[in-house]
Amino acid sequence: MRIAPGPHSAAWNELKAQARRLAEVPTRELFGRDPGRFERFSRTAAGLLIDFSRQHLDETVLGQLLALPEAVDLGGYREAMWRGEKIDVTEGRPVLHVALRQAPGERVGGALLEHEVLEERARMLAFAEAVRTGRITGSAERRFERIINLGIGGSDLGPAMAVHALAHPVPGGPRCEFVSNIQGCHLADLLAQADPRSTLFIVCSKTFATLETLTHAQSARQWLCEQLGAAAVPRHFAAVSLNHRAMDSFGVHPEYRFKLWDGVVGRFSLWSSIGVSLAIAIGAEAFAAFLAGARAMDAHFRQAPWAENLPVLLALMGVWNINFRELPTLAVLPYEERLAHLPAYLQQLEMGSNGKSVTLDGRRVDWQTAAVVWGGPASNAQHSFYQQLHQGTARAALDLLLPARPSCGPEAQHALAIASALAQAEAFMTGYPPEALRAEFEREGLSPARREALEPHKVHAGSRPSTLIAFPQLDPATLGRLIALYEHKVFVQGVIWGINSFDQWGVELGKRLADQLLPSVRDPLGQPAPAPGVQRLLEQLALWREDGSR
Ligand code: F6P
Repeated sequence: MRIAPGPHSAAWNELKAQARRLAEVPTRELFGRDPGRFERFSRTAAGLLIDFSRQHLDETVLGQLLALPEAVDLGGYREAMWRGEKIDVTEGRPVLHVALRQAPGERVGGALLEHEVLEERARMLAFAEAVRTGRITGSAERRFERIINLGIGGSDLGPAMAVHALAHPVPGGPRCEFVSNIQGCHLADLLAQADPRSTLFIVCSKTFATLETLTHAQSARQWLCEQLGAAAVPRHFAAVSLNHRAMDSFGVHPEYRFKLWDGVVGRFSLWSSIGVSLAIAIGAEAFAAFLAGARAMDAHFRQAPWAENLPVLLALMGVWNINFRELPTLAVLPYEERLAHLPAYLQQLEMGSNGKSVTLDGRRVDWQTAAVVWGGPASNAQHSFYQQLHQGTARAALDLLLPARPSCGPEAQHALAIASALAQAEAFMTGYPPEALRAEFEREGLSPARREALEPHKVHAGSRPSTLIAFPQLDPATLGRLIALYEHKVFVQGVIWGINSFDQWGVELGKRLADQLLPSVRDPLGQPAPAPGVQRLLEQLALWREDGSR
């Protein structure tokens, strides 16, 4: 494969010129010029509709953007990932998330990997189903009612997001909770309400060495031992990890262990046994539908031409906004309450993957890479930070997600959500131009002085670019498609920027420093901090900690 970042291509320079050409043209004018804009700038495939007609572009720009996948040999990289080649070059690893969701006979990553993946999936789903239906019980033969997933980052955000999205609470059914933060309060709160006889802990940690997860696992183990005795541990702890030695010494029963592969990157791991709490929450059949949804998006990504390819188009909209329109943030705005955790999930997926500043061959990039991803569920967000999106100086690109039918609640109420989403998309695009405002003032009979004073405050410039991602209803298959859509988007952008989307060296340094600092936090006077800049701070914190203990 050749390393040819998009910014080195002829299309990139052409796009810069196009951005200058369009800079002063409001998006509403582009709409005005082209009544067929929706048809030209929207695509429906794999059960999703992507409407990018409110992006600030025209056909010339789209044509140049579509030259980028060829210029960077996207097809070559994509197929290398599917073959299981070591495309994570800094860690010398293949990247296996597409192999994790394969169906029998697909041979993704080779016949051996296919066999292992299918075998492990069957074991995990059988376990999940047995927990769910009460065939596997705790040490007191009580059915598990509370599942507590202990994990962080990729071992937490995916299952937590998906359980919130798909698990409709059933009376008496297992209820899944997710504990991640290093502070002990969340776990302490849960344990205060939990019945140890009906509680199952799942330790999700690829390495079984992550500070937060191990700390929680030890606390949970101690709590269980105090309540039920040490002999109960093997029936109340399951684990998903590569690290068998650590699982041995923790006391995880061999049948309650599920394996991972080295090439499974945490933020792409939901399809593996890391999804066991999701499988318990929704059942094996729905989990299979979730995988099938992702496979449908995989097939689309591999087969559709670039101009029809949803992940490619979504990636190109991002490149256009980030690299040519100086919009370095992306707000993710789901109009579906059950997708409330999607922004946090995508934040890790996009920023953990593409927050890089060197190319695959180690050269510094002089172009922007990942957007700052943030967001929150709408319509709440409308009453919170949309003001900034409409009229603030720091502008953002927007992804609005909209189901046609609600996953719960009255259909009639969902009509309000649809109206809100479409109204906002329109308002972001058209803005509120001075002519419209003046007509409003006229109707209201405002005095000239009042008009002059109010006009600058009430004008909305518009041209805030948004992509609308619509789908029939949030269900397991649709969630699978949506997540795979964004995974492939991240991959495409990484290839265009010429970076490695699959390592994460940036988070390792802070972990090492925290280990070195811990002795000084515990004893700031006896153990001076190895980092001189924090010694005075530690002393002040120690004073306050002592005050609190009195
Ligand atoms: O700190 C980042 C990270 O390494 C993620 O990539 C990973 O998902 C998370 O920590 C948790 O790691 P583990 O699954 O090994 O506990």
